Amino acid sequence: MTRQTLQRGRERFEIYCAPCHSPLGDGDGLVARRGFPHPPSYHDERLRRAPDRHFYDVMSEGYGVMASYADRVAPSDRWAIVAYIRALQLSQHAPVAALPPGAREHLEQATAEGRP
Ligand code: HEC
Repeated sequence: MTRQTLQRGRERFEIYCAPCHSPLGDGDGLVARRGFPHPPSYHDERLRRAPDRHFYDVMSEGYGVMASYADRVAPSDRWAIVAYIRALQLSQHAPVAALPPGAREHLEQATAEGRP
């Protein structure tokens, strides 16, 4: 895993997935807000536990009302997107103890001051 792969995944995700899944992956993208069925949040327990392959397969084959992205997203980009989705999931569920020292202090200070 490289920073470059993650950046590529983020770029592709923001183009192809975020319109419905939202930039955070919580399923509240603009298209969903305008009436398309809401996708499930990537932060749901079920999708946090789903294997990488599941995300790849959903992009390749489609899932329920979601169309396949096989003709728009190359296989290597699908894996880059999977890596980025894993980073998004971690970003919403990292245990405080896993944060680097600077970030932990920042969070503790913000919490103490009642900031989000
Ligand atoms: C046009 C809107 C739209 C776009 C764009 C879109 N999705 Fe979805 N996605 C959905 C909807 C709606 C569902 C729920 C489908 C259902 O359950 O019938 C879904 C479901 C999913 C799921 C969950 C499957 C499960 O197990 O419940 C994953 C993972 C997913 N999408 C990944 C992606 C990725 C990655 C991309 C970008 C390549 C993408 N989607 C682009 C609308 C979209």
